Amino acid sequence: MKTQTKSRIFQERRIFIGITGSIAAYKAADLASKLTQAGARVEVILTEAAQHFVHPITFQSVTGLRAFTDSDLWGSEAHVLHIGLAERADLLIIAPATANTIAKLAHGQADSLLTVTALAARCPLLVAPAMDSGMFEHPATQANLKILEDRGVILVGPAEGRMASGLIGKGRMVEPAELMGHIRRILGREGPLAGRKVLVTAGGTHEPIDPVRVIANRSSGKQGFALAQAALDLGAEVTLVSGPVHLPSPVGVRRLDVITATEMRDAVLSDLEGADALLMAAAVADFRPVKTAKGKIKRRKGPPEVQLESTDDILGLVTSHNKAPKVVVGFAAESQDMIDNARVKLEEKGLDLIVANDITAADSGFAVDTNRVTLIYSDGAIEELPLMSKTEVAEEVLDRVIALLGIEG
Ligand code: CTP
Repeated sequence: MKTQTKSRIFQERRIFIGITGSIAAYKAADLASKLTQAGARVEVILTEAAQHFVHPITFQSVTGLRAFTDSDLWGSEAHVLHIGLAERADLLIIAPATANTIAKLAHGQADSLLTVTALAARCPLLVAPAMDSGMFEHPATQANLKILEDRGVILVGPAEGRMASGLIGKGRMVEPAELMGHIRRILGREGPLAGRKVLVTAGGTHEPIDPVRVIANRSSGKQGFALAQAALDLGAEVTLVSGPVHLPSPVGVRRLDVITATEMRDAVLSDLEGADALLMAAAVADFRPVKTAKGKIKRRKGPPEVQLESTDDILGLVTSHNKAPKVVVGFAAESQDMIDNARVKLEEKGLDLIVANDITAADSGFAVDTNRVTLIYSDGAIEELPLMSKTEVAEEVLDRVIALLGIEG
């Protein structure tokens, strides 16, 4: 059986989800499940109204932990429960949050286990509103949201779309997958890379032959996107320069989409200012057609001669640049003599670290979710890592970047 890839950011984190009375409460079950599967310890508090939509057992089943309701507020542990719940949380999420609960939070009302807990909690609070668009737009709700925002509450959404009334408008709770991105951003915001800028490149570039055809490579972008996510999880400000890929942006990333090697070069060079580290995971084309045909090259004219020229070596330009980041990491996809070839690249390109992998192995390299990499340092040291997920490779590489930056882990 395949095990799920877990990111470090969620491990053993204590997360409380408060659920209030909206039809979006069913999505909270998915959120609780996703967080639990990711390794977090998830406990749930349902309001009275929430229980008209979902049952505590739904949440106990997906989290393996108790789901609390207002009956616990008046139970035998009542005098300590709300303080206890509040103290043991790393994060309190209220999703979905109705207009009514938002009003109570804004004014410090504490008439249910959830609102009592929210008032007692000193951990970050994320609120995902869900309500009819008229209620959302009402000046009272807007004023309450403003109060929460000014107090440092993280508001996510609502999104536009179809609502319970059948109308289209702004009021839908943000989808759990997107909330996960916001949650990891909050959990990581005081990480070792907080205040640091990390530039990551990902995916392959496309070099046009004519308006239809391109010279491309098989990079999926997965390793580069995992690096961007791992850097975000550590609190970094991340710019992700991506070739054409089919991957969603990690929440919080600044993404610059490019197509050709020249565009990638320009994007990287224009973003060097203030960057602490560059992780160059992109598979940049080494050659491009000298000329791009204006019209589609026709088959009946027979095979065309496509003359190629070299593209610029982006890493070479970066390391010789006066704004070169303190740490520059390259990647080497090799099909033979991996260590020797990677070491030559490390030296020629002036890198601090190169991450080499053997693309002929079935479990390593393009499109798969795992990778087996060897790390080679500028002082000659070599470190072989076992087969692991691309998420784990990314976390390991970021550990090395933190050490190379001289940051205490
Ligand atoms: N790279 C780059 N600019 C290029 C080509 C590659 O910055 N025009 C970077 C890649 O992003 C990677 C590293 O250089 O981090 C090594 O890329 P790779 O394709 O393995 O090396 P090449 O120098 O292109 O050598 P070869 O293709 O001959 O193996």
